[in-house]
Parts: sequence; structure tokens; C-alpha cells
Amino acid sequence: MPPQRTPHRTRSDLDVPSFVPEAAVPVQSHDKNTQRLIVVLSQACLETHKIPSKNGAQGERYALLNCDDHQGLLKRMQRDIADARPDITHQCLLTLLDSPINKAGKLQVYILTAKGVLIEVNPSVRIPRTFKRFSGLMVQLLHKLSIRSVNSHEKLLKVIKNPITDHLPTKCRRITLSSDAKPLKVQDYVQTLEPDESICVFVGAMAHGTDDFADEWVDDKISVSQYSLSASVACSKFCHGCEDAWNIM
Ligand SMILES: C[S@@+](CC[C@H](N)C(=O)[O-])C[C@H]1O[C@@H](n2cnc3c(N)ncnc32)[C@H](O)[C@@H]1O
Repeated sequence: MPPQRTPHRTRSDLDVPSFVPEAAVPVQSHDKNTQRLIVVLSQACLETHKIPSKNGAQGERYALLNCDDHQGLLKRMQRDIADARPDITHQCLLTLLDSPINKAGKLQVYILTAKGVLIEVNPSVRIPRTFKRFSGLMVQLLHKLSIRSVNSHEKLLKVIKNPITDHLPTKCRRITLSSDAKPLKVQDYVQTLEPDESICVFVGAMAHGTDDFADEWVDDKISVSQYSLSASVACSKFCHGCEDAWNIM
């Protein structure tokens, strides 16, 4: 006798919730009360530069200044190669937007460039995963000041007015992440917040330098490890701590 096949079971037969929940509706940036995590990628190297057109073609061409493609140019401008690392912002954005806390609608991301341009990132934007396409998008954003969704009129990325403090919730602890500060467990730190208190963390999206980029706004500086980390790993550790504290899996 052939072996009996187990009948195919549907999800409703199993009566278990889906393990791939739909992304929650994100907290709106103008909401001044709901508790959330806000990450400000500070000192971000996002700068466009006019470059000669290829094969004498007409028109202007701009590129996102970076240390791999523009070494000669940076040398002529007497700029440090480490000043041109837009890849750090790219990596941080991918880490942040892919995180469970973003999917749970409790994360907001801003970018503050080294030149002082403040950018609001819509939590539902899909950042290109390759650096080349990311560069193209950033050049477009810095020239047009916003990027709209193809399907709706929603702005996915937009340049907004400084200062960042005008865009934060009313009750919001502001801290800088720095390896120079005292190391703390993020979850324990986040648990000291009141239920209606948000937290805004300033992370240096740069390769080197002192972590004094937000000294005028912050209440505290904390380290999330006894090691010096990349900005992306620092973002990731902070997101995980909030996820644990706020029961997001
Ligand atoms: C590669 S670090 C660059 C700045 C750093 N002062 C340096 O010179 O190496 C990038 C950023 O990651 C964050 N970071 C690095 N290590 C950290 C740590 N142990 N705890 C918290 N944040 C950290 C800081 O915000 C820092 O500005």
C-alpha cells in the first residue's frame, strides 16, 4: 500500500499568527507625543560635485563625492579622503530601515550632513541597496530637495528646516552615542525612560573625529560597548536595546 500523504494544511487550519507581520503604520514625524526612537545620523558626508561630462557630451553631471571615485579631485581640493565617506550613511540607513523597530513603526531617522543640511527619511522608503544607485538618489535629493514616491505623492526623503530640535517630540531625552562615554546596556538605559518619553540619539556618520557634533542639544553621552564601533553597528545595538525594552521581536 502506498504511504498515506498528510493533507495540505492551510494557515487557518494551523491557527497560528503569521510570523511575517505587516509593517505597522509609522508614528508621524509631526506627532509630538508618541514614544519612539529617533536616530540622527550626524556629520554625514553627503556632498555633490560637478564632474566633467563623458566623451564631451553636453550638460552638467553631478556625483556624490566619495573617496573611491574622486581621490584626485579630493587631493586637488586639499580635502582629507576620510571626509568623503557617504558609504557610512548608506550602511546606517540600510541597518536602520531594515530593523524590527522600524517595521514596528517606532523609529524615525534624520540625516544631518557635515554641511548642515537636515533630511527627514520616511520610514517606508526603500533605500537602494547598491552604493551606485544610492549615490544617484542622494544627488537627486540634494538638488531637488525632495524625492517623491512613484505611486503616491508622499515624500520619501526631504530636506527640512533646521534645527533638528524643532522636529522632536515634546518629551524627548537626547543623547550622543560615543565610545568615549561610559558603557551601558541599552535596554537598561531605555527602561529608565518614562512611558511617554521618546529618545533621540545622535550617531556620528563619519569615519573619525570627536563625538562633539551634538553637544549643543544633548542631555547625556553614552557608550553601547567597551569597543569602538562602526556607526552602523552602534545604530544596530541601540535599535536592538529599544526592541528588547519595548517588546518588539
Ligand atoms: C567610527 S565612529 C567615528 C568617530 C569616533 N570618535 C572615532 O574617531 O573613531 C562612528 C560613530 O559610531 C558611534 N560609536 C562608535 N563606537 C561607539 C560605542 N562604543 N558606543 C556608542 N557609540 C559608538 C559614535 O556615534 C561615533 O561617532
